[in-house]
Amino acid sequence: MEDSTDQVQSSPVTWSRDGDVGVILINNPPVNAGSREVRAGILTALDELMQETSLCALVVMGAGNTFIAGSDIREFGQPLEVPELPTVISAIEAYPKPVVAALHGAALGGGFELALGCDARIALTGCVVGLPEVTLGMIPGAGGTQRLPRLIPLAQAIELVTSGRRVKAEEACEMGIIASVVETDLRANAVAFARALHGQKRRLRDLPAVASSPSDIRAAEQAALQWTKGRPYAVCAIDMVKAAAHLPIDEALAKERAAFQTFRMSDEAAALRYLFFAERDAGKIDGIGAVKPRSVHEVAVIGAGTMGIGIAVTFADAGYAVTLVDQDEAAVSRANAQVQAIYDRLVAKKRITEAEVQARLTRISTTTQLADVASCDVVIEAIFEDMNIKQELFRKLDAIVKSGAILASNTSYLDLNEIAAATSRPQDIVGLHFFNPAHVMKLLEVVRGVRTSTEALTTALRVGRKLGKSAIVAGVGEGFIGNRGYAAYRRQCEFMLEEGAYPEDIDRALEAFGMAMGPFAVGDMSGLDIAWRMRQRLSTHRDPSVRYVEIPDRLCEMGRFGQKTKAGWYRYEPGERKGRPDPLVHKLIETASAEKGITRALLSADYVVGRALIAMINEAALILSEGVAQRASDIDLAWVHGYGFPGYEGGPLLWATRQPKSRIMALQQDMAAQSGRGYPLGHIEAVLKSAASGV
Ligand code: COA
Repeated sequence: MEDSTDQVQSSPVTWSRDGDVGVILINNPPVNAGSREVRAGILTALDELMQETSLCALVVMGAGNTFIAGSDIREFGQPLEVPELPTVISAIEAYPKPVVAALHGAALGGGFELALGCDARIALTGCVVGLPEVTLGMIPGAGGTQRLPRLIPLAQAIELVTSGRRVKAEEACEMGIIASVVETDLRANAVAFARALHGQKRRLRDLPAVASSPSDIRAAEQAALQWTKGRPYAVCAIDMVKAAAHLPIDEALAKERAAFQTFRMSDEAAALRYLFFAERDAGKIDGIGAVKPRSVHEVAVIGAGTMGIGIAVTFADAGYAVTLVDQDEAAVSRANAQVQAIYDRLVAKKRITEAEVQARLTRISTTTQLADVASCDVVIEAIFEDMNIKQELFRKLDAIVKSGAILASNTSYLDLNEIAAATSRPQDIVGLHFFNPAHVMKLLEVVRGVRTSTEALTTALRVGRKLGKSAIVAGVGEGFIGNRGYAAYRRQCEFMLEEGAYPEDIDRALEAFGMAMGPFAVGDMSGLDIAWRMRQRLSTHRDPSVRYVEIPDRLCEMGRFGQKTKAGWYRYEPGERKGRPDPLVHKLIETASAEKGITRALLSADYVVGRALIAMINEAALILSEGVAQRASDIDLAWVHGYGFPGYEGGPLLWATRQPKSRIMALQQDMAAQSGRGYPLGHIEAVLKSAASGV
């Protein structure tokens, strides 16, 4: 028979012959997602190749940049069309000659499961493999939990399946997941490899699971439950991997598939899928087509304080050459020590190797000379928050730095347009608002000034993505998207203190809902004094008829700045990081209520959550209507990646679309009644429509 290319023009799957080896090629741009057409195409190809009795083996590979990057995530919320993936994998296993998966780019989820259904795997360097289903609120559904532990020990399989970690080809090879890693010419190498199997099938299903000691399994299980917060799909994934050791494989595969079918239809999975596509949408700028970003290699960070150091580390981690600048030698040597300390902690936690640290350290250089940043492609200012000082620096940078470079400010509340106005190139000025600690926090606000060019913005977004951040576009405005929303939320939580709750009641309710930390625990952790000083500065402008809670000011007047002073909203015993409720704070709160003539009432956990979330939602509506955010899903990303909102709820706006509309409107009315004047109401209904359309 001839190559299949001629006969099946419309199929994304074709096959051809390379001597006595058949090569199946999957071509479904952009990422060869395993759609129905791809699955059907592979089955057809296998069927046709059954007739090719002279072949000694097959190779399955992807066209373009990647192998199958995963099943088509858009299909998971709908009834799956036949043929389903397990049928395709069974056909590969039933094929009488060995089938070799030749991997490049990414082989994730269903793509990796298909590779596990093959008799061997080889990969091009740079490829990653993994099972990210748990991060999407599901479990692998096509044998991942059963075939992987037949290649690597059960404890390792638990780690990979529950973390969704993307394993680089070299590590996968060391683990035994991949037989060999090649530097070039994947197809030729795969064909030679397949031929060298001499027709021998090596199906994983025929092997026993690779044992781990009971203590290793227990340790892997406990670690997994901790990082997945014991979500039901993670628990199920662990059980399924363990089942590989004792259940007959067909029985286990059937159980795995049934659980996958249930989880994929859950609200949690839908929320996590929503966030997956929200991440991709965040990189797009409304109203313009594709713009080519500028190339960025060298980066400078001005200001070696905590923020500047974190930003420098972030860039070095992502492979950029970074110059960190501060005024004097003392500051620079302090910065060097702090960078080293960050990496020492990562080595101690076994997150990176000593060799990797050395590689990253060589990418960071420090200097006291501003002139050293002249050739950089991006320069980020992370100095003191003062408009005059910032403008002066930008004037200097404007004179020094090459044209076409992007000059960025890390300001968290100053007006970017005023900063840009100090330069002759406002089109190249953006905000890059990192969150502390910059090398850990995933959220990055890319701030667009009125004169920022789309090219500069696109470049900044691309850089953000390369840093591994969740980068969203924000317009200029007090607090941008994230801090503005958070301030509105925290304010309602403070109102609830006056109305009857204590800090621990509110924190407990919100943590039970899924917030990583309650607002008062967060306040104590980050320190109460900075916001206090800001309030003092603004106090003369405050309208006395607008509701204002004085309790945090009183705490600060008592020197209670949070964890660093061992007292804030909570008190902290020596050696403890979790605060204890403090009767003194209770008294302070009760006095504040009495002074305002508020009769304290018991607030239920349900009420607390509704009130806190409506504050987020209301502010989001205002932010959207003012054009500070481009789309509802960007705001959800900010909450999830910047403020510990539970990803499995998808963000406050997705949450709102899932509540009865009457509940949301009643919550908003109640908030309005409690807050009084000075708290504008957003047009929530419009937002709910746009958020729902993104699901
Ligand atoms: N299903 C459907 N669409 C997918 C997809 C999937 N599994 N993976 C990626 N896409 C889409 C993206 O939405 C994006 O579409 P858009 O251009 O319309 O926005 C496009 O493919 C490119 O993806 P993007 O992430 O922007 O490209 P990248 O080159 O930066 O990264 C991958 C490529 C494969 C590493 C990345 O897309 C990825 O991690 N995908 C998810 C893989 C996964 O989790 N699979 C398991 C599912 S169980």
